Amino acid sequence: MTALAIDGAAQAGAVLADVRARAARMARRPGLAVILVGDDPASHVYVRSKLKRAAEVGFESRTARFSLEVSEADILAHVAAFNAAPEVDGILVQLPLPDHINTLRVMAAIDPDKDVDGLHALNAGKVAQGGAGGLTPCTPLGCLMLIKSVAPDLTGMNAVVLGSSNIVGKPMAALLLAERATVTVAHIHTRDTPFLCCGADVLVTAVGKPRLVRADWIKPGAIVIDVGINRVATPEGGSRLVGDVDFDAVREVASAITPVPGGVGPMTIACLMLNTLTAAQARQV
Ligand code: GUN
Repeated sequence: MTALAIDGAAQAGAVLADVRARAARMARRPGLAVILVGDDPASHVYVRSKLKRAAEVGFESRTARFSLEVSEADILAHVAAFNAAPEVDGILVQLPLPDHINTLRVMAAIDPDKDVDGLHALNAGKVAQGGAGGLTPCTPLGCLMLIKSVAPDLTGMNAVVLGSSNIVGKPMAALLLAERATVTVAHIHTRDTPFLCCGADVLVTAVGKPRLVRADWIKPGAIVIDVGINRVATPEGGSRLVGDVDFDAVREVASAITPVPGGVGPMTIACLMLNTLTAAQARQV
């Protein structure tokens, strides 16, 4: 069987069209504020894409850029200013932050109602309790939409999540649990990850290791969602992006699989816009 390649770009386009239409009906344009620290090229690329999409759906946006040496106090002061700014509906602090800044402390400083990344403990707690009323981290939310586009009912399925980060693995596991799947989270200390993967009806990988997941890890007919974005060298001396999954081989075993690029990435950004709209609507009633 050759798996269906799940078209994340197309599904993201549909989400963005809906966000744009709903934003156009609002009395005030939704506003997104971004904090970017340092000169990590990948973070700059991600932020540029987010700002471009924000403009396309009719949002106002502003960016506060800082050098790597910025103090935590300075970042916290900017978060406080964005919390207080009436025209800012969503605040996003691009991660990773440098080691001298405590990420959890910065997340805790964001007004939970403006926490469009869903990383404040209050929103993380709501996701852990089943999701009602909070803002959900963008990548897991996008992954769930992609999964449900091919399997609307996950009741009783075995789901395996590779990676246990606060931004992807943990909320992903919580969302799958809320969909009544049986969820296993594997991480760097897990003893036999391939064995666990072999039982997965749904496999979500977010580990950042190029082509780690091989065809013999995959249950025939599984749904495979690849969150990894890894840059690898090509024989021609250039570079290209690959996921955590050996796409060409796994495609012959799975029933549906997300490509890299063009799978999860566009959905993450679309869900950021969706969360910003949700936050704006909640604040403007
Ligand atoms: N760094 C990598 N992915 C993300 C994301 O989704 N949100 C933020 N804030 N930082 C990231």
